[in-house]
Amino acid sequence: MNKMPQFIFFSGKGGVGKTSMASATAVFYAEKGLKTLIVTTDPAANLSDVFEQEIGHKVTAIHGIENLYAMEIDSDQATAEYRERALAPIREAFGDEMVAIMEEQLQSPCTEEMASFDKFTDFMDTNEYELVIFDTAPTGHTIRLLELPVDWSRHIEESSKGSGQTCMGPVQNIQDAKEKYDNAVKLLQDKEKTHFIFVLQPEATPIKETIRSAKELGEIGINTSEVIVNGILPEEELQNPFFKKRGEMQKKYLKEINEQIQLPKRKMFLLAEEIRGLDILRKVGDVLHNQQEAVNEIESGN
Ligand SMILES: Nc1ncnc2c1ncn2[C@@H]1O[C@H](COP(=O)(O)OP(=O)(O)O)[C@@H](O)[C@H]1O
Ligand SMILES: [Mg+2]
Repeated sequence: MNKMPQFIFFSGKGGVGKTSMASATAVFYAEKGLKTLIVTTDPAANLSDVFEQEIGHKVTAIHGIENLYAMEIDSDQATAEYRERALAPIREAFGDEMVAIMEEQLQSPCTEEMASFDKFTDFMDTNEYELVIFDTAPTGHTIRLLELPVDWSRHIEESSKGSGQTCMGPVQNIQDAKEKYDNAVKLLQDKEKTHFIFVLQPEATPIKETIRSAKELGEIGINTSEVIVNGILPEEELQNPFFKKRGEMQKKYLKEINEQIQLPKRKMFLLAEEIRGLDILRKVGDVLHNQQEAVNEIESGN
């Protein structure tokens, strides 16, 4: 990365190491002195496990390191907050009966998605942190989320023709939020401000999914910055037949990655231990970000 972005998104298939790579990156930059927040939008979030402390649906300072904060967005709580924010002006102006009608309209999966988006745009709307790292849910879910506001104008138009209300809340609310969302979309599409990183492993499915997802993001004007190839077996471990065979499989897929993914790449080796606790996170962050700049073609060896 030449110039530091303000936002870094980590995406990829479940289990490839998104949370680990995002957390290690957060630790790395917090230690460099940047006031850093890591937010997870993955319902299967486990930042608490990774940092070995209670986190939850609130910004929490991480013990044992300066400049680092974390939050696990709880989708139920985010939805409740969003609903309440949408309903408050109605309650004031029209009373409880109208609120009951609205409440029903806000019981939809779309409201939940909107609420998650709303929550994370909150973090794009503030300059409180020098770096915000988003550890996102597996790719499909995240892309759907990012597509929402890009579809924005059409959505408003359609809903204003109908009852004047949508799963997002009354049109007036949407209009108010529009500026914030437009701004978030602009930031998401700004290559300098926002980096989008896919994590994958040298295996068939994650490669396919990365290629497809990067293309889908491109269609909504979001550029993929680089990929992290995680879980590479260290060369010196390839002695016994089992690992030798697995190492050969990985080499075949690394070749595919080099050929099919024309993006800067970083590599991360499989460690003997789980990635949790500051010591290991520091080690992983160093390996990831102190290696030479991300390269176009990675080699399989160390
Ligand atoms: N390079 C690695 N070496 C060893 N363990 C790893 C590595 N990358 C990830 N893990 C472990 O794999 C599991 C899944 O990683 P995680 O970061 O939670 O994936 P995701 O967020 O993509 O679902 C975790 O237990 C993590 O500690
Ligand atoms: Mg995760």
